[in-house]
Amino acid sequence: MDVPVSGFSKKSKQEKIEWLANAYFGDDPEAINTLRKYWNSDTRLQELHDDFTENVISNYYLPFSVAPNFLINDTLYTIPMVIEESSVVAAASNAAKFWLERGGFNAEVISTVKTGQIHIDYFGNGEVLNAFFSEVKNELIDSIADIQKNMKARGGGLIDIELKDATSQLNGYYELHCTFETLDAMGANFINSCLEKIAATFETAALKYDGFNTTLPKIVLSILSNYVPECVVRAWVGCPLESLSYGNTQGKEFAENFVRAIDIAKAEVRRAVTHNKGIMNGIDAVVLATGNDFRAVEAGVHAYAAKSGRYTSLTEAVIENNSFTFSIEVPLALGTVGGLTSLHPLVKFALQLLRKPSAKELMKIVAVAGLAQNFAAIRSLVTTGIQQGHMKMHLMNILNQLQATSEEKEKAIEYFTNNTVSHSAAVEFIEKLRA
Ligand code: MEV
Repeated sequence: MDVPVSGFSKKSKQEKIEWLANAYFGDDPEAINTLRKYWNSDTRLQELHDDFTENVISNYYLPFSVAPNFLINDTLYTIPMVIEESSVVAAASNAAKFWLERGGFNAEVISTVKTGQIHIDYFGNGEVLNAFFSEVKNELIDSIADIQKNMKARGGGLIDIELKDATSQLNGYYELHCTFETLDAMGANFINSCLEKIAATFETAALKYDGFNTTLPKIVLSILSNYVPECVVRAWVGCPLESLSYGNTQGKEFAENFVRAIDIAKAEVRRAVTHNKGIMNGIDAVVLATGNDFRAVEAGVHAYAAKSGRYTSLTEAVIENNSFTFSIEVPLALGTVGGLTSLHPLVKFALQLLRKPSAKELMKIVAVAGLAQNFAAIRSLVTTGIQQGHMKMHLMNILNQLQATSEEKEKAIEYFTNNTVSHSAAVEFIEKLRA
């Protein structure tokens, strides 16, 4: 068995790499070389990245792309996207162009409330806990005055605290449900700092409260919720059916097939998950490019897709009075200040490219990216199938795997303009060229 390492985080970057090379790569200099190749020659920039997390040994690149021509509420955007999947950016750009010629995207923020909970164990009389809470509620709010001073000055902060009896879900379980407005910040640190302070104040006050006798409430944990069904944005597109013709398919037929595809995603969970995955291709790419927490967004969005108790499509399509409307409603807790936004140079660039949006504006842009991605996917799926476009974009990856030269790539691209791309067809083509 391998020997565990102790004090790893205290080692220098060089020592960490040497240890890894020795323990896992038989001291192969190529392994070290690979890590070094991705170091930034600008030492200050490299140090910035080294400080983002612990035990950093290199940088992990993902492509930073842009999708132009997104008309959203009459403003034109070029959207930054960080994603490795070959066809996503092309699909987004395509959908953007398509809707640009049909009036563009619309979007509105429905609400921006975020929540956090202080989870409590209490096995005494619920009425006593209620009475205690009414007595200390103001003290709990006062205790975070310092933490929320700046946020309040800007018009945000704690909205309310409610005591919820959740004993029907779990014996002895109560929660302090706190609601927040965090403006342009995603607000995770702000909310968690408020919650921990409120929890400490609650516990101290409980010790002094006569009503509890020996059965005291105990704080189990305090944390924000990444389920944000009150921080929601809606985006939609629409046009007359006749403007929807695609290839050989007439607008009406296309729209009917499209609506049917959405209905299937609404009805069948196996389709819904893939359908929503396609939406997340667009959402995550912009969330990542703008330095936001894509894990939080993913967790919140999928929970929202299951809010009725059954996981279903995040998008909706209808035909009414000869016109087609396609829409999305998603919860998005995003920030355009704090976190990585002013630290990571590419995040700064991405936000500048979007004209320094407020969190609300970014919510609209991200929702539109998701809607556009879903439109492109469903359009391909109900017409040509997904593989034609996907494999065309994936061709470059296959050629790179085969270490094709620029000349070979050029010839391959020309050949596959009118021929079906597959891994074996690409191999065969390159082999023939080289023979
Ligand atoms: C692939 O990344 C995304 C799709 O599977 C989405 C969908 O099926 O709707 C094409």
